[in-house]
Amino acid sequence: MATVMDNGVLEAVLAEVRPLLGRGKVADYIPALASVSGNKLGIAISTVQGEHFQAGDADERFSIQSISKVLSLVVAMNHYAEEEIWQRVGKDPSGQPFNSLLQLEIEQGKPRNPFINAGALVVCDMLQSRLSAPRQRMLEIVRKLCAAPDIAYDSLVARSEFEHSARNMAIAWLMKSFGNFHNDVATVLQNYFHYCALKMSCAELSRTFLFLADGGHSVQQATPVVTPMQARQINALMATSGMYQNAGEFAWRVGLPAKSGVGGGIVAIVPHEMAIAVWSPELDEAGNSLAGVAVLEALTRKLGRSVY
Ligand code: DON
Repeated sequence: MATVMDNGVLEAVLAEVRPLLGRGKVADYIPALASVSGNKLGIAISTVQGEHFQAGDADERFSIQSISKVLSLVVAMNHYAEEEIWQRVGKDPSGQPFNSLLQLEIEQGKPRNPFINAGALVVCDMLQSRLSAPRQRMLEIVRKLCAAPDIAYDSLVARSEFEHSARNMAIAWLMKSFGNFHNDVATVLQNYFHYCALKMSCAELSRTFLFLADGGHSVQQATPVVTPMQARQINALMATSGMYQNAGEFAWRVGLPAKSGVGGGIVAIVPHEMAIAVWSPELDEAGNSLAGVAVLEALTRKLGRSVY
């Protein structure tokens, strides 16, 4: 272990990466996200020993977007048997942009994995079938996991997405044509957009996702969030599919299971040790936070961490 962690280490990493601000592009295909200032940089780390470190804009809430795809999978795992989930969605990287329709047509409506839009939409369809109030349930889970009772959906972002939902609608209808989408498309999309529009800070995200570093256990609740095996499986999916078509590049540079969102957030897991959340809204071409990836790369090098 190269470095002892403290907030100073995190400040130093942010200072190293700050010159990259201005090189990426804030997501503008969801108009409500385009107004976010690109000049933000934050990091938070929660450890299984109960420590918490943070630096920069770690307390500012942002739209978690696709990071929510991990949470919807967790809820599905809580309500469905393993084979029921994996007969409807795969476990392999797509190598395609997150909102691509290409493979879906060729592969008869079965999405490659739950972390591309198509896969998350199938998962949300499954939640709609078994939960009486999927949006309220998600809020309850997240509020409990990060001990922040005021976590909420950004209704402006959710509405903005719904108004620009042609591609996600097309994905859902294509899956419906193959029999892999059972509920009303608009209803499920509304839930999906609300999940994406969860507003959370890095500090809240690192606390929420600590269960993935701790065998499915969260200090916030008596019952495990998922089983140790499911935590392992989710980490494996994050490592192979969490960063879209840049999963290989990210494994090379950072070497941790991670999930990004077009709001500029990334959650990364050091199994048995810590959950890391970073945020910087400007994205690279794959839709991952440009500075966020650089922060994770600098940090893992400094700390000497990698799963490989
Ligand atoms: O459905 C969408 O396109 C967005 N709500 C989420 C996309 C996203 O965050 C992909 N991440 N890199």
